[in-house]
Amino acid sequence: MSFLNQINSANALIVGASQGIGLGFVKKLLDDSRINKVYATYRNPDATELLTLAKNHPTRLICLVIDVTNETQITEALEQIKSEVKTLHLVVNCVGVLHDGDFQPEKSLKHLNLENLTRYFQVNSIGGVLLAKHLVPLFKHQEASVFASISAKVGSIGDNNLGGWYGYRASKTALNMFMRNVSLEYARSCPKNIVVTLHPGTTDTRLSRPFQANVPPEKLFSIERTVSQLFEVIEKLEKNDSGQFFSWDGNKLPW
Ligand SMILES: NC(=O)c1ccc[n+]([C@@H]2O[C@H](COP(=O)([O-])OP(=O)(O)OC[C@H]3O[C@@H](n4cnc5c(N)ncnc54)[C@H](OP(=O)(O)O)[C@@H]3O)[C@@H](O)[C@H]2O)c1
Repeated sequence: MSFLNQINSANALIVGASQGIGLGFVKKLLDDSRINKVYATYRNPDATELLTLAKNHPTRLICLVIDVTNETQITEALEQIKSEVKTLHLVVNCVGVLHDGDFQPEKSLKHLNLENLTRYFQVNSIGGVLLAKHLVPLFKHQEASVFASISAKVGSIGDNNLGGWYGYRASKTALNMFMRNVSLEYARSCPKNIVVTLHPGTTDTRLSRPFQANVPPEKLFSIERTVSQLFEVIEKLEKNDSGQFFSWDGNKLPW
């Protein structure tokens, strides 16, 4: 049975909800009557679709600003949630960066530079573990809860037979290790929480768009499909799944 069915009035937080998979999660949760409040974070004021959605759902959807490279913003947003609802039951961290203008994944060692590598780790790995740090009080309750972070199969060391994308791959590997560590500490501090990382499959978003040419159509998921598949995985999680890395089909991935 889904952990959500055991909760009277569940509160959710989607981090990185301005577009892509994060925005898809917000839409899915707004359609789910088991969810009371949906908190959704964005970084730039041009998150127009999310902000319009909030205008149409003024009591259920609350938007907050978080750039995960700014710990003060993380603290302030989570303080606001604490002052309003005190507990969270589902948190999905959908933040990630692969490319942005001149910032492109490295094909070879000669493309590496310190600034770009640092950015990959700040956004894709460190942001997630800082969230985990500040989420503790919101997960310290007696009801079941899930903290899921969207990782990527390319972050699997065992599965890497292709190379390239140094910064993106290693930052997702680091995210997986951070979340494994969090699962071990949360087992003591927030014992009802389940911490997982999830591979969404190649999904038609801004992030994958420049790299879709060689993806067969049946392997390129719509945002709606990805969110349904990941939500199904999340709903089936059990306590002993905490600390694991799952693919969109529910199978465990090698580290
Ligand atoms: N799409 C795929 O095929 C695929 C495959 C494997 C894994 N993933 C992972 O899935 C997750 C979601 O990606 P997506 O495909 O939905 O990509 P996307 O459409 O580009 O969305 C990425 C999200 O991350 C946010 N973000 C980026 N930097 C941030 C920062 N410093 N602080 C806060 N938010 C920040 C973006 O906000 P802005 O709108 O402000 O930029 C946006 O909301 C990522 O972790 C990605 O690595 C995606």
